[in-house]
Amino acid sequence: MKNKLRGKFIVLDGPDGCGKTTQTKLLIQWLGEQAVPTETFRDPGDTDIGEKIRQILLNPEHITMSTSAEVLLYMAARAQLWEEKIAPALTQKKCVILDRWLSSTCAYQGYAGGFGIEQVIKLAADSFKMPWPDLTIILDVDLETSANRLSGRPDRMEAKPRQYHQKVREGFLELVRQQKNFLIVDAAGDIETVQKKILRLISEVSFT
Ligand code: TMP
Repeated sequence: MKNKLRGKFIVLDGPDGCGKTTQTKLLIQWLGEQAVPTETFRDPGDTDIGEKIRQILLNPEHITMSTSAEVLLYMAARAQLWEEKIAPALTQKKCVILDRWLSSTCAYQGYAGGFGIEQVIKLAADSFKMPWPDLTIILDVDLETSANRLSGRPDRMEAKPRQYHQKVREGFLELVRQQKNFLIVDAAGDIETVQKKILRLISEVSFT
């Protein structure tokens, strides 16, 4: 497992409430037990600049923010994260695990927001060296289950209407159909069941 995952870039993504933050933590714990040198980051965030951009993006007061502004801000935070953290970790042959990535901009802004998946991908390809990871795992969940998992005051993105979130889910499913190196996990079950599915996928996948 150590050799297989050296220098690999793996993303967990999906709609709000899909459980990816919990699953990312469990995956990191498991990789530690396998003695795989690992770094993990959240997108947007995990750099000084990225955390500031995250606050602007998620602030519920910013109701007038346009989809184009969202795309550019998410991409800016990501470009910074790539340069400052991800690229150096991959150079050191660490396994890099991301909580969200470009797939989110494709599903939220590209598909649900109407910016266009292809347009998002083009912008990313012009902005940093490795837009697509070695593996993206999409945690798929229905709207009812995901809504029940969210707690606290919703941020600006979570507060978008139900139809928007339905389209976000469809956007992720569209990406799984379109893109290479995407795998889907049914994430409606309990934490342990979903974790087992993710670990089985990572153990069985062969990186091309
Ligand atoms: P998080 O709470 O999972 O960290 O993500 C922050 C919110 O931002 C979440 O509602 C999803 C949204 N988002 C986008 O709309 N586009 C993106 O490119 C990313 C990375 C997140």
